[in-house]
Amino acid sequence: MNRAPDDAHRHARALLDPVHYDYFAGGAGREVALDENERAFRRLALLPRVLRGAASRDTAVTLLGDRSRMPVLVAPTAFHRLAHPEGELATARAAAAAGTVLIASMAATTAIGEITAAARSVRPEAAVWFQLYLQPEPEVTGALVRRAEEAGCTALVVTVDSPVRGRHGRDERHGFHDLPPGLAAENMRDLPGTAPGGAAVRPIAMSSALSWEHVRRLRATTPLPVLLKGVLHPEDARRAVAEGVDGLVVSNHGGRQLDAAPATVEALPRIVEAVAGRLPVLLDGGVRTGCDVAVALALGATAVAVGRPVVWGLAADGERGVRDVLEWFRSDFDQALALCGGARPADLTADLVVRRGGVG
Ligand code: FNR
Repeated sequence: MNRAPDDAHRHARALLDPVHYDYFAGGAGREVALDENERAFRRLALLPRVLRGAASRDTAVTLLGDRSRMPVLVAPTAFHRLAHPEGELATARAAAAAGTVLIASMAATTAIGEITAAARSVRPEAAVWFQLYLQPEPEVTGALVRRAEEAGCTALVVTVDSPVRGRHGRDERHGFHDLPPGLAAENMRDLPGTAPGGAAVRPIAMSSALSWEHVRRLRATTPLPVLLKGVLHPEDARRAVAEGVDGLVVSNHGGRQLDAAPATVEALPRIVEAVAGRLPVLLDGGVRTGCDVAVALALGATAVAVGRPVVWGLAADGERGVRDVLEWFRSDFDQALALCGGARPADLTADLVVRRGGVG
């Protein structure tokens, strides 16, 4: 049986420097949120429908105007050159070839313009979104947004679950705090306020002073759609709708921020209820199979994103490894859709999801 993500994980673990493996694999605190993301999917089951006459299937979805061959996007993860020498260029080419949207991390080890160029070299209409941490200085955020616009990104994904950096016990134990020589967060190079003439790379700032006002200001400065990533409370989802945000990502940052955060699939239904169809709702965290994708969609997600499975594919076999993982997700989701009696993602409805261990 083709189990690309699990195989890739095994290979990645064997190939990567153990310090870097732990950076990618680890979570915050006691890694409760990290573990629960995957476990919560296992507590849910799908009630398949039969004899629905769905002769052919289409797994594609359209998100804020961008078409994706599958409802599985690439979540933003930092430092791909730690996983493979080609880093984000390999990831971008693979996502483009697989026909899905790449959400490129602001903390990429490749500049955003090079990432979009790599994606478009494979598929001219390939969609790349830019993930952004709002910086305390508006001119720095503004410069990053201009870079994303000039690179041709079609949406901004603002990560809002990081008022402070998560505490990662594995990194603390290894003393892993800096990128090795030769690698840098390339989007942070030559920004306003850096030393004159230098090629200084600004550190990425996390700020607990950020508020809805900052989101409003961002929206006033860009025509790009803005999604908020890391929303778990239904009141924040309602506020996002009221503020005119264009989409949400239900996420606990892959268990790397608040360790007491709920599993994302458990937080999803209340967010979907609060949003009531007014915005696309994406989910990431612990999605490892096509059945997980189907459960999230049935509970109201428009699409999901995968973080670590892509990193494992990259570490295992570069561009080809990422492509194998993404193609596997497409075919495994197609299989789950068929077995549920569906022809398209919208056929997955909430009545299909039941909790394991119940009766009836
Ligand atoms: C992340 N994530 C993340 N999120 C973000 O908004 N900006 C970033 O730079 C990063 N960097 C990052 C690095 C690594 C190594 C990981 C594992 C994760 C979080 C990421 O976007 C996503 O929320 C999770 O990875 C989803 O969970 P899974 O699929 O990894 O379980």
